[in-house]
Amino acid sequence: MKQKKAIVIGGASGIGKGITDALLANRYEVGITGIEKDIIKNLQDSGKENLIIEYLDCITDDISATMTELIERLDGLDVLIFSAGIGNLNKNIGYEIENNANQLNVLAFTEIADWSYRFFEKQGYGHFVGISSVSGLFGSRVAPAYHAAKSYQIAYMEGLRQKASKDRKSGISIYITDIRPGFVITPLTEGKRLFWASTIETAGKQIYRLIHKKATIGYVSKRWQIVAIIIKILPRWIRNRM
Ligand SMILES: NC(=O)c1ccc[n+]([C@@H]2O[C@H](COP(=O)([O-])OP(=O)(O)OC[C@H]3O[C@@H](n4cnc5c(N)ncnc54)[C@H](OP(=O)(O)O)[C@@H]3O)[C@@H](O)[C@H]2O)c1
Repeated sequence: MKQKKAIVIGGASGIGKGITDALLANRYEVGITGIEKDIIKNLQDSGKENLIIEYLDCITDDISATMTELIERLDGLDVLIFSAGIGNLNKNIGYEIENNANQLNVLAFTEIADWSYRFFEKQGYGHFVGISSVSGLFGSRVAPAYHAAKSYQIAYMEGLRQKASKDRKSGISIYITDIRPGFVITPLTEGKRLFWASTIETAGKQIYRLIHKKATIGYVSKRWQIVAIIIKILPRWIRNRM
């Protein structure tokens, strides 16, 4: 069987690293991007089999050029996973920092999702996976822009999913998976009081399984779906006090 190829944007650390390790363990050939030069160099020096690493700052660099190069080096692409994200949790820090995060969480997310979809349309198949969040299901006074950006990602992927469902009827086999983690122990959640938190390794394995079965939406861990349901039915006056 032909070896499957995946790209993980933000695959050098955090949840993205968990996903990369799970993909490698399942014999994928993986191209990852990151912005920490030391981590990238260490990974390159480690000579890990089936792993290609590129530097890509999604806010300042040419996304399209790096994606094209990675796909050429991998010699194909089956799955693109967008895991990169900036979360300014616990701090209501003003629009300059919030908009810097928005450049990654909203603008780069859109560019990469759109770029991938067009690439998959041309080749006739492919799978886009975005790591949104349970945070996208409600607004929050402690991190307004982060929650809003995650809502954007959720709605954007719903739109792409509708398009993919239509395209599949005309023989173009594209799938969209929206992964909504609750809490995962990474630098993003440092200093926050966590519950039902997964490790990077567990989250990576669960996300791999959701990718493998081409799930439309997946909660990580699964029990966060209960929180999602409760949030949907909560009256506004209770949400206002959250
Ligand atoms: N942790 C949680 O509890 C949780 C919950 C729900 C959703 N999420 C979502 O999961 C995703 C991964 O988060 P995480 O917890 O793994 O966070 P993290 O450990 O802080 O990792 C952030 C990731 O984003 C990348 N990144 C940051 N700025 C970038 C830029 N300008 N260009 C390209 N990549 C950039 C980082 O690359 P480097 O490795 O090179 O620094 C890293 O891979 C995010 O989208 C986050 O919103 C996380």
